[in-house]
Amino acid sequence: MPRGAAGEPEVNTIQNLLARRNPAHALEQAFYTDPGIFQTDLETIHYRDWLFAIPACELEKPGSYVTYNVGAYRVIIVRGADNQIRAFHNTCRHRGSVICKAAKGHAPKLVCPYHQWTYELDGSLLWARDMGPDFDPSQHGLKTMHCRELAGLVYICLADEAPDFDSFATIARPYLEPHGLGNAKVAFESSIIEMGNWKLVWENNRECYHCGGNHPALCRTFPDDPAITGIEGGETPAHMQAHFDRCEAAGLPSQFYLNNDGQYRLARMPLKEGAESYTMDGKSAVRRWLGRSPFADAGALLKFHYPTTWNHFLADHSIVFRVTPISPTETEVTTKWLVHKDAVEGVDYDLKRLTEVWVATNDEDRRVVEDNQQGINSPAYTPGPYSATQESGVLQFVDWYCTTLADRLAPGIMAAE
Ligand code: FES
Ligand SMILES: [Fe+2]
Repeated sequence: MPRGAAGEPEVNTIQNLLARRNPAHALEQAFYTDPGIFQTDLETIHYRDWLFAIPACELEKPGSYVTYNVGAYRVIIVRGADNQIRAFHNTCRHRGSVICKAAKGHAPKLVCPYHQWTYELDGSLLWARDMGPDFDPSQHGLKTMHCRELAGLVYICLADEAPDFDSFATIARPYLEPHGLGNAKVAFESSIIEMGNWKLVWENNRECYHCGGNHPALCRTFPDDPAITGIEGGETPAHMQAHFDRCEAAGLPSQFYLNNDGQYRLARMPLKEGAESYTMDGKSAVRRWLGRSPFADAGALLKFHYPTTWNHFLADHSIVFRVTPISPTETEVTTKWLVHKDAVEGVDYDLKRLTEVWVATNDEDRRVVEDNQQGINSPAYTPGPYSATQESGVLQFVDWYCTTLADRLAPGIMAAE
């Protein structure tokens, strides 16, 4: 596609592509393949929005840290001596080396491996050898980034000025709190690389049109009813409203909620009749429950928050997913299964039984996303229409993406229309 002086697609070109978009159709090829649009995605969305990073329980004690890469950024998330969780740029203030190289670990101080500059867990510089009398350590602490904990979920934001987080937190907290994520531990995690654009990962997630043909294990318990995966187009179906009412009467916020700008949705959806959890027999996977669900068949609190996370919170355990773009055609999908911290593997749960449905489902989703990308790479690809019945969620995601991109490439123009 045409490029500007810096080799990136001209903003005008992306805006033209957005303007000529065929409504209710898939996006044009460049959105899934072009390095310049990928970079624009990072700069306008991932580098500016709140991103789900990790469950807070992963940082078990002061000094526990997890590293995370988002595009060109290297991030350390660490629990301080005061128990507060903070996020820093993983870039030494001396000559810039990465400080923490492991995916996760525990350290009483953060020590740069290059010349051993040593930082406190709150990011302040504690020690730097032979820097002379004029050197001011207080000017060389780690660069911080925005970091918020919401009911056991840690979000970060790379932007200098973060968008509002409080309104999301206010809406989401009552839905999340009954799930007791503060008392969780990670029973299992997996990270897979899907050879597909990050938006294809999301589009696939936002419909269950593909479930019947691809997810035999998931379909034992998860209804492939478009009202569950998609967004409401009008009236809430009666069986769903009955489920919301039953759960809410028992103290579990459940009602469908889609934010005005479409960035996040919460709803406690019923599973198939009689199903309690994502297991092969549909029964609970964990004997000691995470949270205080009043009954086993409370379904799954489904939460998505673009651009990085979808989650399933069940009566017995929770699963958090994180989507990280790697390149125009590579996306990392990280899945963490959370159980009560006192649940004992082999006694309260069997790890295979707990994880097998979503391990299989993730791999099936990887395959369909990769097939999707391969087909889109062909010069013969033409964006096709979404099913209004089955793919309302995909359309909602793509609309959110296009609106967000257009808005941020030309601030004020969309708002003034
Ligand atoms: S680059 Fe970190 S101590 Fe020198
Ligand atoms: Fe799927």
